[in-house]
Amino acid sequence: MCGIFGYVGHQEDAADIVFEGLKRLEYRGYDSWGIAVKKPGTGSKNTFAIRKRTGKIGNAKVSDLPKSSFGLGHTRWATHGGVTKINAHPHTDCTGSIVLIHNGIIENYEKLKKNLIAHGHRFVSETDSEVAVHLIEELNKTCSFTEAVRKAFLKLEGLNAIIVMHPRAHTFVGVRNGSPLVVGLGKGGNYLASDAAALLPHTKKVYFLEDNDLVVADAENVQIIEVKTGKRKKIKPRTLTWSIKQAEKGKYPHFMIKEIHEQPSILSEIASSGLSNAKKLSKHIDQAFDTYMVGCGTASYACIAGSYLFSKIANRHINWAVGSEFGYQLDFLTPKSLVMALSQSGETIDTLEAVKKAKGKGAKIFALVNTLGSSLYREADYSMLIGAGPEKAVASTKAFTGKLAHLVLLAYALAGKPKSGQSTLLKAAKASKTVLTPESRARIKKLAERMKNKEHIYVIGRGLSYPASLETALKIKEISYIHAEGFAAGELKHGVIALVEKGTPCIAFLPNDETYGANLAGAMEMKARGGSIIGISHKPHEVFDFYIPVADAQEATIIPNVIVGQVLAYYLAIARDLDPDMPRNLAKSVTVK
Ligand code: F6R
Repeated sequence: MCGIFGYVGHQEDAADIVFEGLKRLEYRGYDSWGIAVKKPGTGSKNTFAIRKRTGKIGNAKVSDLPKSSFGLGHTRWATHGGVTKINAHPHTDCTGSIVLIHNGIIENYEKLKKNLIAHGHRFVSETDSEVAVHLIEELNKTCSFTEAVRKAFLKLEGLNAIIVMHPRAHTFVGVRNGSPLVVGLGKGGNYLASDAAALLPHTKKVYFLEDNDLVVADAENVQIIEVKTGKRKKIKPRTLTWSIKQAEKGKYPHFMIKEIHEQPSILSEIASSGLSNAKKLSKHIDQAFDTYMVGCGTASYACIAGSYLFSKIANRHINWAVGSEFGYQLDFLTPKSLVMALSQSGETIDTLEAVKKAKGKGAKIFALVNTLGSSLYREADYSMLIGAGPEKAVASTKAFTGKLAHLVLLAYALAGKPKSGQSTLLKAAKASKTVLTPESRARIKKLAERMKNKEHIYVIGRGLSYPASLETALKIKEISYIHAEGFAAGELKHGVIALVEKGTPCIAFLPNDETYGANLAGAMEMKARGGSIIGISHKPHEVFDFYIPVADAQEATIIPNVIVGQVLAYYLAIARDLDPDMPRNLAKSVTVK
């Protein structure tokens, strides 16, 4: 969702620093952007130069903005008010001397706005965000600026993060509750960002704001204050382990294909380094009376896969739910329950809220996340990092297979056979590497060329291939905009088969497991209705119109199978002249409901 980047320091190129920061946040998804820098020579009163634009940053330049050492930028993903220049952030108060950017949704903005208008404030945008800056202006009449920000924030309902540029000093005042905010502690300057990866070119020393932390940052100092009490708080900075190189495209044309290619080595790495954590955490699963898995979108499909893996490998029943629904079905949780939350970003609001509700019932929380210091990482009783490195393409790839890899290890550890988990995973890494050879990619690309003008694609699987089907269909939908549906093959006859007609592409996952025969029957039924069958399997079959080989990796075959789906989705997007990294309407980190 919206991205934030701010700089205060001694360098005079704040506009460029902020602009580059925003470009690093582009992957989060946005529809307009804006930058404010303090104009030089304006004495004790700050006046600002502001640039706002709709659409993508593209080849925009900010070199005409004045030299400055104090700047703030924002990429907006519209919620309240259309995609217009006026609605883009930053927003200013009536005098233009307070500059604010906001992430989240101010749920009580209508009431606040009415009140502020009654007090003579003039609004120019349709956003909920503008309310915050006028509220600060109003409160600043009777108290210090920092205090005004603190008091204003306490009046905002909902999950929000705001950053304000001080009207009389080179100082940021920022607060968060729900929406992520991280401070970069640099040499000769400090930074604020919605996402730690954007800070990598400047510093690895960071502080992740906790809910209700207020930060006051100038070029030299960073202070944290508890928003509710106004008391100062000691901070414990962390060191980021990601490198700049990991967060760049390198030789690849898109982040998505780069991230797809990283998977075999990430899987091998998890196989070797994930074992000791898996052993430790499996004990908590073992001791829990009941265990649930929760996640959204792709992460929820990892949960479904987890439920099959735990059943198959460890004889263990684990429920799962999507984050947005879990809150409606957790009445039975007790302090003996364990909730496993899966998330790449660790900031997905639906997952976070589900976790908070579960905590309220006394359940213990285990988070499997990719982002160090993220909200879920901190909220959980036990946290484990996926270790996939920064994932920048909106469509999740390596974080998904990374989650699956840890679940394979956990299930085997729970079954008392951790080494088998490791060897299964290494087989999956090898099979994934084969899927990504130039010959294999060329084959999948050829298939994409054949399918690129189709209106519908159906994907079937049973057992672990059911979540593989859901995930493949989701990848195709989100980046190629072709309607794709994944479903349990057994459901074909219960309705979906009505949609199959001559030439409909039907992808069937047929791994070397107990589902092979029944799923093959499903593929045949589709073929009998004119469907064109794309078989993803360890062996060819005459029913296939197109065959993509994937080596057997036992229970972890879902991993290379899904990678075929990822590569297919990628080439479908390319064949349709779409940018796979930034699909329309989607955001990388979904921090609003
Ligand atoms: C799809 C995709 C989304 C995310 C979902 C949860 O490719 O990326 O469905 O999986 O928004 O995100 P995280 O894993 O960050 O909680």
